[in-house]
Amino acid sequence: MPLVSMRQLLDEAAKGGYGVGAFNVNDMEQIQAIMEAARETQSPVIIQASRGARAFAQDRYLYHLMLAAAELYPEIPIAMHQDHGNSFETCKSAIELGFTSVMMDGSLKADGKTPSSFEENVEITRRVVDFAHERGVTVEGEIGVLGGVEDGHGAGGSGLDHITDPDQAVEFAERTGVDALAIAIGTSHGAYKFTKKPDGSVLKMDVLIAIHKRLPHTHLVMHGSSSVPKDLQDIVNQYGGSLKETWGVPVEEIQLGIRNGVRKINVDTDNRLAITGAIRKVLWTQPEKFDPRDYMKPAREAMQKLVAQRMREFGQAGHAGDYTQVPVADMAKGYADGSLDTRPSVVGAR
Ligand code: G3H
Ligand code: 13P
Ligand code: ZN
Repeated sequence: MPLVSMRQLLDEAAKGGYGVGAFNVNDMEQIQAIMEAARETQSPVIIQASRGARAFAQDRYLYHLMLAAAELYPEIPIAMHQDHGNSFETCKSAIELGFTSVMMDGSLKADGKTPSSFEENVEITRRVVDFAHERGVTVEGEIGVLGGVEDGHGAGGSGLDHITDPDQAVEFAERTGVDALAIAIGTSHGAYKFTKKPDGSVLKMDVLIAIHKRLPHTHLVMHGSSSVPKDLQDIVNQYGGSLKETWGVPVEEIQLGIRNGVRKINVDTDNRLAITGAIRKVLWTQPEKFDPRDYMKPAREAMQKLVAQRMREFGQAGHAGDYTQVPVADMAKGYADGSLDTRPSVVGAR
């Protein structure tokens, strides 16, 4: 089965009232863990690679690993997504490589650190939308800025620094024509999101709900959505790690988001913790081991367990076989004839 467009996955998720986890990958074991979890739970999946992942694994390796996944799991709809594209060129190269979806994160300048102006964001995102839609590829934009820094990417600071303004979100959707919109509601990338279980003063679910009311046809995306479970923190620390006490985004808040237009949920940190905990445990308890398979296998299993759990919690479990996959070339026709246009003025006029 070829890779499918993320737009189709998200449209189906909207019809079914569920969310789809977007899990970051850097290597073969992470792709295997996600695919096994997808088969176990019969879930459609979004697999995403950051710029750092593409540099780490090399584009050709990543792409062929994804083709292997599509070949080995023909019953699973798979979208391959560029996470946090920083420029038109990054998105273009991803599309040329065969990604079926890209994020143009124009909330930051090309350095991936400095917040950009609204006009700059609109302009670059619109350019990516024109290029991508002509090829049937999905585009996610971002308005507002997340906190934290991952692998040098991110504005830093707290998640409360640049919360999305609902009026700007509507104008952004109208002027760019994005398929999906990442919004900033107080979350951050990485393990250190909140210093206590988050309440409404730091996690702005009311802003999300207000945006969904104004933009019911734009799929919303929650970044920084790891829950940073205490049991995973404890395993890392029990076997020689030194994580400080921290809180992530509670799953029930994500489920509230899903009931209010969130269709894509980005999770990376939880998988990093699951993998690291499993590897630490083997090396700490069995220091004589030196065959990488002795620790990579439990690491892969730990990630599979976490991903399968999230697939059930987000509601995507059981939906892999709901629909016939539409080729990306046919999606291009839908963009060209306007039937896939979700700009508020266009939807309003239908
Ligand atoms: O948003 C960031 C993702 O967690 C990927 O992180 O840039 O360190 O690969 P990375
Ligand atoms: P976490 O760091 O919360 O896993 O967020 C991942 C993310 O948003 C990737 O784009
Ligand atoms: Zn992100």
